[in-house]
Amino acid sequence: MAVEVRIPNGPLYIDMDGFRLGRGFELETFRSSLTYRPQDDDKFVVTFPKCGTTWVQHIVYLLYHEGVPPPDGLDFLMASPFLEMYGAETVARTRRPALIKSHLPHGLMPKSPHAKYIYVCRNPKDTCVSFFHHTRGFSGYDFAEGTLDVFFEVFMNGQNDHEDYFDHVLSWYEHRSDPNVLFLHYEDIKTDPGFYIKKIAEFLDDNLKKKLDEDKTFLERVVANSDINQMKHYAEKNFKEFFTKPVDDEAPFGVKLLHNAASRFPGAVTFTRKGIVGDWKTHLTAEMNARLEEKIMKKLGHTDIVDVWKKYGIL
Ligand code: A3P
Repeated sequence: MAVEVRIPNGPLYIDMDGFRLGRGFELETFRSSLTYRPQDDDKFVVTFPKCGTTWVQHIVYLLYHEGVPPPDGLDFLMASPFLEMYGAETVARTRRPALIKSHLPHGLMPKSPHAKYIYVCRNPKDTCVSFFHHTRGFSGYDFAEGTLDVFFEVFMNGQNDHEDYFDHVLSWYEHRSDPNVLFLHYEDIKTDPGFYIKKIAEFLDDNLKKKLDEDKTFLERVVANSDINQMKHYAEKNFKEFFTKPVDDEAPFGVKLLHNAASRFPGAVTFTRKGIVGDWKTHLTAEMNARLEEKIMKKLGHTDIVDVWKKYGIL
């Protein structure tokens, strides 16, 4: 069942069988995505929204394409399908290895011991601010005039799309030691991209590790082309061109669905905004900050995630 939900003064969402999404998703396709049967060579990039999904998708894309950025939006969107948006059939037909984007919590994620799952965790202060800009920017949320005061409460209460932030992070944190899960922090990648890109390559594929050892400039290319400033050029241009032109007839079903969703609910934001650690300092009031910290300690205080955030001055 799909039911529209309006948060008072807040965004408009759609609950699909009880799971909250932004408008633009289709019930049947969402249902189908949950039944996807992962193939052995699948590489998943999983995050709570706004935690660096697009960035890490591009890192993985670059690793599988000699460090060369995608020639256009269609190529990227075909190589790196969005599971919940595209549905199982399109993802099953994606060229291999499929570099699959997903925001599913661990409990809902289609699993296989052979597929690999990269989970990217970002501190909730920057995530909340980034999600606020996203929610205001995409017209489907009908929140263009919305305020951070309202969105902050939505985030704190876990009323946003894709589930409560804290439950999402915890669901994957509990599996951080599974052999096919790589649990990463946005802030770590940002601080030492070379080290973490190498770690991602080694986790994904022995061939990538071999390539990195043989060609010293390979890592440099991936680091350079996944930098926020580079991505602001090519990724933004690719997406813009793709979404403003009619979609290719030959494009897979899921890509057409995404194109259609973007036409119905156009966005005034991009997936490459600031890309920094600490943007929250210019947005959150002292009271918001204190409340969020209290919640962090209550929900995640027992994990070593808080040590990472302390290291980066987030706590
Ligand atoms: P901000 O809004 O804080 O700038 P997602 O892709 O999951 O929606 O995440 C979007 C966030 O990742 C945005 O954060 C965006 O700017 C940031 N981002 C995108 N590309 C990045 C990159 N190359 N390096 C660092 N951050 C990046």
